[in-house]
Amino acid sequence: MSRNAGRPAIAVVGVGYVGLTSAACLAHLGLDVTAIDIDENKIRQLNGGSSPIMELGLNQLLVAGLASGRLRFTSDYAATANTDIVLLCLPTPHSERENGPDLSAVRAAVMRLREQLPLDAIIVTKSTVPVGTQRALQELIERPDISVASNPEFLREGTAVSDFLEPDRIVIGADHQPVADRVAGIYRGITAPITFCDPLSAELIKYSANSFLATKLSYINELTRLCDRIGADIESVAEGIGSDPRIGTSFLAPGPGWGGSCFPKDTRALMHLARRTGQYLPVIESAYQSNLDQLDHIADRIQQLCPTRLDRARIAVWGATFKAGTDDTRQSPALQVIDRLIDRDATVVVYDPAAKTDDLPVVAAPDIYAACDEADLLVVLTEWPEFADADLTTVAQRLAGKTIYDTRQIVDPVKAADAGLYLVQLGRLPAA
Ligand code: UGA
Repeated sequence: MSRNAGRPAIAVVGVGYVGLTSAACLAHLGLDVTAIDIDENKIRQLNGGSSPIMELGLNQLLVAGLASGRLRFTSDYAATANTDIVLLCLPTPHSERENGPDLSAVRAAVMRLREQLPLDAIIVTKSTVPVGTQRALQELIERPDISVASNPEFLREGTAVSDFLEPDRIVIGADHQPVADRVAGIYRGITAPITFCDPLSAELIKYSANSFLATKLSYINELTRLCDRIGADIESVAEGIGSDPRIGTSFLAPGPGWGGSCFPKDTRALMHLARRTGQYLPVIESAYQSNLDQLDHIADRIQQLCPTRLDRARIAVWGATFKAGTDDTRQSPALQVIDRLIDRDATVVVYDPAAKTDDLPVVAAPDIYAACDEADLLVVLTEWPEFADADLTTVAQRLAGKTIYDTRQIVDPVKAADAGLYLVQLGRLPAA
């Protein structure tokens, strides 16, 4: 049992967004946490008190956890020998070969845990795993004393720490209630409703939540395209429908499409599961396709708004990450739009306050204004606050084409007009 009187000793396997956030937050809640990752460089960096990922409040929790002695990082699975509960936070990337999520990292970790874990330990799948994984791992481990449970995470990048510490809900799927109760014990000190259910349902809840949110975004983005076509205003439409509490105002901000490391992967995984079982999911299939249509729509609008032919144009782009508040460019709509512009032979220069230059497919401008130099058009693809705060007079001086296409509705139309800029916002009427 734990070194921390009465509270379970935790191991977290996999120190990515989910694992590192979970480990640091659980140590903050007073639990004893050992975090394991095969990447030794990452372990060194973390033991030195520096987070490899950008996440609001995470570095402070990391430093405090290390200082308290409740949080440690290692590559050695032997450190799990006194663990009560292990949280698996490993990646399950989409595999083209398997046409579905690749579970090899999860399986390999379970085989190593099998040799180390004490009697009656619990393994919990925390990061998103395909529906049916709990059952498969319970069989794989071949240790009847060890239970495998599902406790999906609902963390958003950029707000992961507050999402962990103040969740809307906690979902725990286990075959036996005493196991579920032990998992719930991890969250002592957090106030949130808990859904106890069977493991399959817990796994399905995660995919269903992300697919629902992605569908909601595809829906508003479809209406955005219609607004562009007929001259209606998406902000008014979103406000008008969102004030019906059955619809709700959140997740109705139109944009260039949805992306990130979760929505595209999870919608595909759910479609894959459904097709495999012969249960086609036309709503989610359409939402996925509709998101690709949105990216095409944005590229087409850029082509229309550009004063010169695209193959002779220089396009300035503000934003490369999949949303503001993160340095993550995985499946970023911004990069997918840029790819479409490159396919149409445009020259693209991008500025992003957080993205790593190595992750960019085009030249990175050193600052927000340098990106505009000699460009025919400025396109805003990520909603970073510094884009909303930019000095538009300076932009007007440096932007040759004097036109901004704002796909995130963050540029102030009045300031743009005062600076002599022509502003077009996705799905919005021009300023009167
Ligand atoms: C998403 C879910 O929101 C989390 O609940 C979930 O835990 C997480 O996936 C996961 O599965 O791990 P995240 O990928 O961090 O979180 O990003 P979101 O904030 O949900 O944004 C996803 C995409 O939708 C982004 O491209 C964003 O720009 C876009 N979006 C979001 C909009 O275009 N409009 C909105 O109103 C909201």
